[in-house]
Amino acid sequence: MDALKRMEVVKGDITKMEVDAIVNAANNSLLGGGGVDGAIHRAAGPQLLEECRTLGGCNTGDAKITKGYRLPAKYVIHTVGPIWHGGHHNEAELLKSCYKKSLELARQYNIKTIAFPSISTGAYGYPIEKAVPIAIETVKKELEKYNLPEKVYFVCFTEDVYNEYKKYI
Ligand code: AR6
Repeated sequence: MDALKRMEVVKGDITKMEVDAIVNAANNSLLGGGGVDGAIHRAAGPQLLEECRTLGGCNTGDAKITKGYRLPAKYVIHTVGPIWHGGHHNEAELLKSCYKKSLELARQYNIKTIAFPSISTGAYGYPIEKAVPIAIETVKKELEKYNLPEKVYFVCFTEDVYNEYKKYI
């Protein structure tokens, strides 16, 4: 199917998504934090942190997978977005890598449905109007190459983020 038709923008809380995997916008420690990371850990319960402790952290632009525990999602893919430092510190490549690596892991685990938050655009300060086209283009290209995942949701927590995605999808 057309790659664009396999992508959907929704408004809401990613922890409620009934998908095979949700993506977490984590930090290098993988030991929790605020924003979507905090929400995912609260909803998944303490076993998520226990598993995260065994992973040895995660480099910026990379991704690691855990189980979803109390979440409706079977898996959590933890990725670490770049902190925005003005745009000349490889931020775009690193953000692109978050989406690519997350989708690569999803394929390895035969994940059919996956939900992404807007990585790096909260605490990490990546300008939303620059981050959204990277998210969409990167995912679209991967979906054109592979049959999995079948469906990708972009979950927008705020109206601003939702409106930005809706310009493209
Ligand atoms: N569902 C979906 N999206 C959400 C939710 C939710 N429940 N909660 C927040 N968002 P952020 P970052 C949106 O700050 O910029 C953490 O402390 C939010 O509105 O969560 O990658 C980590 O531990 C925004 O659009 O992630 C790191 O230290 C988007 O998720 C750091 O923040 C990303 O905002 C990572 O910062």
